[in-house]
Amino acid sequence: MISEDAFRYHDGELFVEDVSLRKLAEEFGTPLYVYSKRTMVSALAAYHDAFHRFNPLICYAVKANSNLEIIRTLAERGAGADIVSGGELFRAIKANVPSQKIVFAGVGKTKEEIRFALNENILMFNVESAPELELISRVAKEAGKVAPIAFRVNPDVDPLTHPYISTGLKKYKFGIPLEDAPELYRRAAQDRHVKALGFQMHIGSQLTDITPYRDSLVKAVDLIKKLRREDIDLRYLDIGGGLGIRYNDEEVPTQGEMAELLEPLLLESRCQLILEPGRSIVGNAGVLLTETLYHKQTAEKSFLIVDAAMNDLARPSLYGAYHYMLPVRQTSAEVRVFDVVGPICESGDFLAKDRELPLMDSGDLLAVLGAGAYGFTMSSNYNSRRRAAEVLVDSTRYSLIRKRETYDELIQGEL
Ligand code: LLP
Repeated sequence: MISEDAFRYHDGELFVEDVSLRKLAEEFGTPLYVYSKRTMVSALAAYHDAFHRFNPLICYAVKANSNLEIIRTLAERGAGADIVSGGELFRAIKANVPSQKIVFAGVGKTKEEIRFALNENILMFNVESAPELELISRVAKEAGKVAPIAFRVNPDVDPLTHPYISTGLKKYKFGIPLEDAPELYRRAAQDRHVKALGFQMHIGSQLTDITPYRDSLVKAVDLIKKLRREDIDLRYLDIGGGLGIRYNDEEVPTQGEMAELLEPLLLESRCQLILEPGRSIVGNAGVLLTETLYHKQTAEKSFLIVDAAMNDLARPSLYGAYHYMLPVRQTSAEVRVFDVVGPICESGDFLAKDRELPLMDSGDLLAVLGAGAYGFTMSSNYNSRRRAAEVLVDSTRYSLIRKRETYDELIQGEL
């Protein structure tokens, strides 16, 4: 299970930092996302410390958890933002991320989004295809601006992770094939409306083996040096996000180990380093708190029916992802094997399959760990369920950072 010291039992009750989860459930109801500020702030600091020689810009991947207060908390501590939509740009601006610390990724940026980002003077667009380069150039020309860009290059390295969150292989939609990159950099150099400032890659997410970073970086540095010989001098090297976290018993590399492995190549690149971590900043900082509704026993199975569902946390249903679970009140009740399921009308609605847990009664609370990243941001209103509330804990203090949706908000916008 996760090793965060922010989540501990005190007198048989699970706390986040110095706040009892039972108390938060009583005050705000369930399902409830609860985050530890200390955990996310120290994860960001670990990146700054590990890579300090490269004066890194840590562009937090907003998609992992885009709550304004969380972006703001990280921005106050020097983080920028890696965004993938106009909506994320809007959030980053509202959360006071300096525009010169924003990078814009994604294979399908629209004209409107490009215009928005140009007007905000972001640091750079990470360009993923030749037609996108053309569109960015056209929009920049219309706006009388020069668009700062990096190409996202696909290094064709296997990140050894789940196929849905792998990106760095040729067969995926992401990035520009390595062999096409020099030609595109040359094309950009001839274009007055764009300026190539950087090289970007992102090979996948939840990497528990860091050697694929090194293998891709070898190719990246080769290309950067080759371009330099042609007088195309790139200032930024953006190596994306992707560092894994512990959901169960995985051995995960630290930021320090990553920095040590990559240091010689980063030095050789002579670029300023950009990183885009998401999960490794917020993933282990969050739990999804849920209440047991029923224990349903059939001839085949024991089901624990809880009030959180796949609309609240999609990862188990979508990726078969494993999330460790802890009862909020420590108990000596008999341990059985359960499927932990939500109220949604689909067999795919589960939070855990065949999981050993102590027998829980109606009203007992369960904490789903590792839910700080890609938890709330991937939640939906499926089955017209209202999206959960979010609370941020800071030692003995806590604040509601997003209200639970109301029924009225559910139909707002429908005509
Ligand atoms: N940069 C780019 C260009 C990305 O596409 C991503 C994630 C990141 C940075 C941040 O990666 P991280 O450090 O969080 O691994 N919903 C999936 C994860 C999808 C990741 C998509 N891209 C999940 O729940 O596992």
